[in-house]
Amino acid sequence: MTSIRVGLLGIGTVGAGTFNVLKRNQAEIGRRAGRDIRITVVADLDTERARAIVGEDVEVVSDARQVIARPDVDVVIELIGGYGIAKTLVLGAIEAGKHVVTANKALLAVHGTEIFAAAARKGVIVAYEAAVAGGIPIIKALREGLAANRINWVAGIINGTTNFILSEMRDKGLDFATVLKEAQQLGYAEADPTFDIEGVDAAHKITLMSAIAFGIPVQFDKAYIEGITQLHRPDIRYAEQLGYRIKLLGIAKRTERGIELRVHPSLVPTKRLIASVEGAMNAVVVHGDAVGTTLYYGQGAGAEPTASAVIADLVDIARLQGADVTHQVPALAFQSSTLSAAST
Ligand code: HSE
Repeated sequence: MTSIRVGLLGIGTVGAGTFNVLKRNQAEIGRRAGRDIRITVVADLDTERARAIVGEDVEVVSDARQVIARPDVDVVIELIGGYGIAKTLVLGAIEAGKHVVTANKALLAVHGTEIFAAAARKGVIVAYEAAVAGGIPIIKALREGLAANRINWVAGIINGTTNFILSEMRDKGLDFATVLKEAQQLGYAEADPTFDIEGVDAAHKITLMSAIAFGIPVQFDKAYIEGITQLHRPDIRYAEQLGYRIKLLGIAKRTERGIELRVHPSLVPTKRLIASVEGAMNAVVVHGDAVGTTLYYGQGAGAEPTASAVIADLVDIARLQGADVTHQVPALAFQSSTLSAAST
């Protein structure tokens, strides 16, 4: 069977993780995918950095636009981030008939309707497991594992940076700015860390999960968003004394008025499992009418956990390539929805 040829756009933390995991586990990944998956070209403005990571066997270019239309590329992985050039490249790749794998939650939460519609028109997949909760396969769980359920609510710790900050402030008595710097050095934080600490990143993720869970359009602009910048060490200490942990939660909930989308610091009783989720770990709780409460836990940020999700999407695409994939495109589910989203 022919290989899947991949063009990788952006080889920062997650891109390097993706390259390394694909190389290290090549045989096993190929066996699961039913064919070999090969990165054939990498685009990065810093070609020297890219070359140092991929060696001599992979072509390196500085202009990502060169990659998206190439006939020898079947799938484009977009790891550039942001709304600007990334949007142009993703739409360009779709237009050129390529499947797209992206970790770009900001792009999908804000422009998802347009992007999924373009993918549906072209019959290609836009896969985004890596956009939500790092290595936890929560998109697959919502879309496939819980497909029998009417979902009542989804709630979780879905930003590793802020959970790391809250944990370190509590355990080590460190101040906010020091821990944020550490989170940036560890590769957890977004390029613009205000997205993390102001709750925007978590809102992007809960928006994407809500679209799948409830069959509604991606409606980031309807989410209520409050981050952790107004929290201080005494708040954390007092919460502990009262038997609570402060966690930044993303919540999507079915109500009589529609779907609530919100992100804000919450008091979680210490006896709840989710209260003991520490550091950059993520946890998502989903309640479905048939299954009841389910919990998904794992590393929500970082190079290889996120690479794990990127590669899982590549494996799915490798298995599906050549098949009719229109049923995989979430935009179709959004259009059939009669629910309306409502912020609180
Ligand atoms: N900045 C994000 C986080 C990265 O801290 O969770 C993973 O999406």
